[in-house]
Amino acid sequence: MKLLNKKTKIIMKVTIDGQEIEVEAGTTILQAARRIGGESVPPAMCYYSKLKGTGGKCRCCLVDVTKGSEADPRPMPKLVASCVTGCQDGMEVASKSSERVTEARKAVTEFLLINHPLDCPVCDQAGECDLQNLSFEHGKSETRFIEEKRTFEPEDIGDKIQLHMNRCIVCQRCVEVADQLTDGRVHGVLNRGDHSQISTCVSAAIDNEFSGNMIDVCPVGALTDKTFRFKSRVWFNKPFNAHRECTTPGCCGKTTLWMFGNEIQRVTARKDEYHEVEDFICNTCRFDKKEVSDWTIEGPRRFEKDSVINQNNYTRKMDKVVIDTEKGILMGRDIDRKKISMSEIDYNEKIDGNKIDTK
Ligand code: SF4
Ligand code: FES
Repeated sequence: MKLLNKKTKIIMKVTIDGQEIEVEAGTTILQAARRIGGESVPPAMCYYSKLKGTGGKCRCCLVDVTKGSEADPRPMPKLVASCVTGCQDGMEVASKSSERVTEARKAVTEFLLINHPLDCPVCDQAGECDLQNLSFEHGKSETRFIEEKRTFEPEDIGDKIQLHMNRCIVCQRCVEVADQLTDGRVHGVLNRGDHSQISTCVSAAIDNEFSGNMIDVCPVGALTDKTFRFKSRVWFNKPFNAHRECTTPGCCGKTTLWMFGNEIQRVTARKDEYHEVEDFICNTCRFDKKEVSDWTIEGPRRFEKDSVINQNNYTRKMDKVVIDTEKGILMGRDIDRKKISMSEIDYNEKIDGNKIDTK
């Protein structure tokens, strides 16, 4: 352990998956892992570095502390949530390298999916959903849950934000946005346990200049942008970095524009590699500035190379594009081809092959 200067900057050594790093006192294991990067970084569904007090709710970020510290080298008996556990000098942590951790993450993913509907084909969050990514990495292909999923009555929380409570994993990030970015919070977690739900307790609409940021921090499709709803899939849009001189106090005016041709279909804050916003934006930028002339476009935005959002960004020339989707969907049932491949349907013909009676 090193004392850097009088202002007591204490530097500690931590080892995560065999990689040593020096961090300041107060750094959590998750933050240290993010500084190392790569596969050792635990997934996080509720922690959000830009919001105070987040973390400790979803248990996705569990790690195995195999050595507590130099002073007390005993391992921690249980897996710990890395987003709320501070580093100690000499601590050794197993993340990707621990089978216990892999098993625990699988269990947490299964737990989160107990009540989450598998409606990705119609969910606006598809393609940028953290739960989809988590399931891809840690999910099982089948479910053991035979009970009916918990469902909630639809609730209108205003004209800009769509709440789809059935998809909520109660990470409470949106509540922290409301607490920290808006004044006069009108929504929160109501009830307890299986009945926990995000709601506006007096059914008041969320009407605040920064409320749209709840959409960006929601890791699933529980809060989506009503102005973009069902307009397109994110991978059909081209994302561009753009900025404008925004006069709303606290808004950075730096955004990502999601475009289809020359049409701006959606505006979001810019997100970093952990899918967290770089800086929050106001509702005027997000919902009211949908003309190209409103923005200075800086250029195309880059995404991880395996992101579905990149699927439109061809990097190499292909003479022929072969799409095998139909083959996969049909699974030998060629008789159903017409129902799936609409292009084969004659405009004057019904799906069953009979002519439409035009009389
Ligand atoms: S609505 Fe989204 S951000 Fe809010 S608690 Fe549910 S999952 Fe989290
Ligand atoms: S990210 Fe650590 S508990 Fe949710």
